[in-house]
Parts: sequence; structure tokens; C-alpha cells
Amino acid sequence: MDGQTTSTRLAYQSGFGNEFATEALPGTLPDGRNSPQQVRHGLYAEQLSGTAFTQPRSENRRSWMYRIQPSAKHGSFRRIDNGMWRTPAFSEGVLSPQQMRWDPFPIPDGDIDLVAGMHTIGGNGDAAAQAGIGIHVYTATASMRDRYFCNADGEMLFVPQQGALRLATEMGVIEALPNEIVIVPRGVKFRADLPDGLSRGYVCENFGAALRLPDLGPIGSNGLANPRDFLAPVASFEDIEGQFELVFKFGGNLWAADIAHSPLDVVAWHGNLSPCKYDLAKFMAIGTISFDHPDPSIFTVLTSPSGPEGLANVDFVIFPPRWLVAEDTFRPPWYHRNVMSEFMGLILGQYDAKPEGFLPGGASLHNCMSAHGPDVDAYQRATEADLEPVYIPNTMAFMFETRYPIRLTDWAAGSPQVQDAYADCWRTLSRNFTGTS
Ligand SMILES: [Fe+2]
Repeated sequence: MDGQTTSTRLAYQSGFGNEFATEALPGTLPDGRNSPQQVRHGLYAEQLSGTAFTQPRSENRRSWMYRIQPSAKHGSFRRIDNGMWRTPAFSEGVLSPQQMRWDPFPIPDGDIDLVAGMHTIGGNGDAAAQAGIGIHVYTATASMRDRYFCNADGEMLFVPQQGALRLATEMGVIEALPNEIVIVPRGVKFRADLPDGLSRGYVCENFGAALRLPDLGPIGSNGLANPRDFLAPVASFEDIEGQFELVFKFGGNLWAADIAHSPLDVVAWHGNLSPCKYDLAKFMAIGTISFDHPDPSIFTVLTSPSGPEGLANVDFVIFPPRWLVAEDTFRPPWYHRNVMSEFMGLILGQYDAKPEGFLPGGASLHNCMSAHGPDVDAYQRATEADLEPVYIPNTMAFMFETRYPIRLTDWAAGSPQVQDAYADCWRTLSRNFTGTS
């Protein structure tokens, strides 16, 4: 690697989807136009469009980047091995109504970077049709070296569970710890560094409309995830030449092209399309102060709409620390069946419906209409508990809730982490019916 100048700043600007303007070298951004005849410092102007040009202003996402070399400058693409990354619509694996749960996914030995460590659990829809999601777990041990990544198939929502995740992106650097999330828009190039070495987390690869904050309706103008708590990076660039590889995910496959410079060479940018991070501890949870509890949609952090109002391609939902105060109420998540399919993971602590067996770094899946709910112990405790106010501390479970049933990959369906006896957690629920007399 030929060392040249870099400007790597770890600083953020606040807001979700704001019209940001940021420059690593003062005075770089053109004044009053996007593509002047000559950009200051001899840079190239380049637009990244995340939505069709003509989508309504409320939907439209694009940013202008002022970079040392344009993105078009790289070698020819060649196919490379997909590893354990799969993309819907795939035909392997199984589409099953069986309730599933997995032990924590192990982190392997050896040098495995984020791309190589991506394992697909399942997915739905069709990436080429820009519908559905891919659900992955990454288990990695090494930073990406001499290679960069760009995903044309979908937006990536990272949910780190163990170890920090540092993404050096075209638009700046984002560092996230477990209990934070990172969103990387479709097409934004990045390199993943692992400051702590071992790293594990979940990914929702969203092929549909970009994630956004849900409307709040009668809740009003505050609450749930507040826009100002989303942090976009400030401009930061690498001016490095050498022998690198640009890995490009396109059409469900990984491709690679040689590139002789770092593609993270954006000196300044402006626009409303950018990566961002969010600390889940800042989520303002809303629940009942009388009886029953709202549907878990009250815990929606982000949503990707699919067309019909309220019908999500995917919702990202969390179950954060919170007070339970409901009177005369079975307080855990109730028994239910759902037209939406529910993939869950646990970042830390315990989930109140499943105090046993659902572990940080593990996962569960309840597909469309597959029945589920509290296990025997949780049911017993909840029906006999004194209904004093109770605080659930130190917990963070999450759900990718999606309109389409989730097909498991061969890897996930056959994994040694599958808990074969998971459904037994309901089989010993007692019959308590007292008869009609
Ligand atoms: Fe559920």
C-alpha cells in the first residue's frame, strides 16, 4: 500500500434522512450548484441515487459526492465465491411452519472478515424484484484488508451483538457497539473494521423500500425512536493508492474488481442519502398504563413499507428495558399467530417470554401463522405474579417482522445450533379447563 494522506474523523451529525452538508476540507462543497464546471481541489462530482429520480420529494433520497476519483474507475468484474451468503429467491433449504430456535452461532477460528463471515439464515421475496429481505448472522474475526464492499441488492441493517463494528464508508466513519445499529444504504461502499477482533451480529438485508421512522399517529410528535438520535458520519476520506479489490454484491452473487485506489475518497458530500447509526438505549418505549398491552408494533424502530398502508416489507422492532405496570393482565407477550413472519434475535439479557433457551447471539423464527408464545415457566410465573410495577432491566431483543414467509437456507436448517426440542417448551403446558359446572 502506498501511504498517502487520509482524513479519518470519527464524528457525527444528528438527524434521520436530513439534508446534510459536510466537508473534510473546508470550502470543497460547490456553492449553489451540484456539478460545477470545475470542483475545488480537482475533485469529481458524482451523484448517488437511492430512489428513482422522479419519486416524490418525501421519498426521494440522493447525495452528491465530491471525490478524488469517480466510482466508474475500476477493473472488470469477475464472479467470486458467495461463501455462505444467499439471496432470495433461492431454492435450497426449507419453507416450513415449524417453530425454530438456534443456540448462539459460534465465531470461527482464523481470519474471517465481515463479508466472508456472512451466513444467511433465511430470506423471502426476490432481491431482483426489490421485495423481501435476507436475514444473516455475521461471525467474523478480522478487519477487511485491501478490499471494500458495495451491495447493489439491498440496504443493510447491522445489529452488532458482540464486539464493535467500525464501518469506514464513502461518507465517513461509523463505529457501533452492541446495542447500537447501523444502516448502510444500497450502493454505499464501505470497509468493515473490527476493533475488538471477534465480532458477531445480525443483518437485515432489505431489498424493498428504504427503512424509515414509522408514523406516530395519535402518539404525536415525540416518542419511539426520535430523529435526532440517528447519527450520520461527517465527511472523511482516504487518499490511498495500491492493489485493492472492490467486492460488489449484485443479483445475489458476489463479484470482484481490481481497484488501484481506495474508493473511500469522498472529500465532501451533501444530500439526504447516507449511512447512520442509532443507539437502541435511546428508544422511548411506550406501553400501557392501565391493562393489556399494545401489539409489539408499538416498539417499531424502523419500517420498510411495501405498498398497502401499514403492511411492511419489514419492520425492525425491539424489546427494550421497560416498566410493566398493567393491572389484571397477563403481562408477557401473549400467545398468538401472525400473518407476518417473525425472526427474532437477542442482543443481551433475557427476553421475558422465553427466559430459558433463547440466548444472546441465538435466534428464533415463527413463520406466518405458526403459533407461539410464552414457555411453561413464563406462563406459570405470569399467571401467578403479584402485579406490582416491575422493571425489566438489561435486556434487548429484536425482531425482523416481515410480510412474506421466511425460507431457511440449508445452512440454517441443518445447523448444529438448531434446538430440536424447541417446540417442547409448549408441549407440557397443562390443561387447566375447569369444566362447565
Ligand atoms: Fe410473535
